[in-house]
Amino acid sequence: MQRSARSRRLRSCLATAIAVTTVAAGALTVGLTTAAPRAAALDNGVARTPPMGFNNWNATHCDASFNESMVKGVADAFIRLGFKDAGYTYVNIDDCWAEPSRDSDGNLVPNRTRFPNGIKAVADYVHAKGLKFGIYTSAGTKTCNAGGGFPGGLNHEKQDAKLFASWGVDYLKYDNCNNQGVDAQQRYKAMRDALAATGRPIVYSLCEWGQTNPKVWTWGEPVGNSWRTTGDISDKWSSMIDKLHINDDLAQYAGPGHWNDPDMLEVGNGGMTTTEYRTHFSLWAMMAAPLLIGSDIRDASATTQSILKNTDIIALDQDTLGKQATIVSSSGGTTVYAKQLANGDRAVALLNENSSSKTISTTASAIGLGGSSSYRLKDLWSKATSTTSGSISASVPAHGTVVFRVTRG
Ligand code: GLA
Repeated sequence: MQRSARSRRLRSCLATAIAVTTVAAGALTVGLTTAAPRAAALDNGVARTPPMGFNNWNATHCDASFNESMVKGVADAFIRLGFKDAGYTYVNIDDCWAEPSRDSDGNLVPNRTRFPNGIKAVADYVHAKGLKFGIYTSAGTKTCNAGGGFPGGLNHEKQDAKLFASWGVDYLKYDNCNNQGVDAQQRYKAMRDALAATGRPIVYSLCEWGQTNPKVWTWGEPVGNSWRTTGDISDKWSSMIDKLHINDDLAQYAGPGHWNDPDMLEVGNGGMTTTEYRTHFSLWAMMAAPLLIGSDIRDASATTQSILKNTDIIALDQDTLGKQATIVSSSGGTTVYAKQLANGDRAVALLNENSSSKTISTTASAIGLGGSSSYRLKDLWSKATSTTSGSISASVPAHGTVVFRVTRG
């Protein structure tokens, strides 16, 4: 039996023992008559709030610019530009980090040109800055890269997990290509168990794209820390909005340690306007999505930095209650989303998908905050504050999103 399952079972036995002892001591029989237990969440202690960090894929794909010096430079930029202070922690590498073949012992080999000093050297560099390091492979015979792919983890789960742990990997993105038609749950559970057996806490990101039935969000909670709900995002308004809406009805599946993942951020890659990138970042935070920067932040513009380091928006994403926003109302290309927050506040996002500005309105009671004669509103982009007796309304530019934090009293 793998370690985390064993410790889960031990804990559950312990809980039962405590309940029985309580009963024996003459207390009420609370705890013995509760409903059937829900499948236990993955118990690896990480990603209690959505993971924040960087992944090179959206910026580089497999270009030669993806290499050791880039990854180290990104880690430097985390510190130099204040991304670490804003909460970004994981420096993750994606596909194309490996040589096309395993070595004679069956181990994965870092690409000799991109990573001449190996992966551990990069992970050590990242760790020395107080950051964490992530890697990628696929739950198939090969990874996804169109050039034929690199060796995947299917049937090599234990060996690969062990190697990753020995390199100091803190995060694994596990893709879905070349899966040979093997059942998704079987493939993703095999790597979960292999990671647990290493004894190293590793964020486990399932990248199954919501492709097969039953959908990954219905079985992902005890398996991974996050699961991709969509195909790949591209740096375009239509793609980003499409990914958003696929997540509209999935709020019930998100919570501390297990998140819906609408794919990585495109902010800073140049294919959307500043207004559109603010919408992208705002809504990813409302969805409690992983915030993985997908642009090369070594030379991030001031505008890109102001979006990615908006700590008021980040606070919504990182809220400890871990609730994903739900739709309050929608009509004519406008949508109102509300997100419950740990301190009793609500965040409300007013999204305008139209090509002209619209006034979008809701009320405090509609977003779940009734019962007060007055409310404070903070606009989390302009930083303007105001009070209202209940109505919440804004003129929202084309493709824009206004986000308020709403507080009673
Ligand atoms: C798939 C994933 C992407 C990326 C590429 C790498 O398409 O969904 O996020 O990892 O593979 O090849």
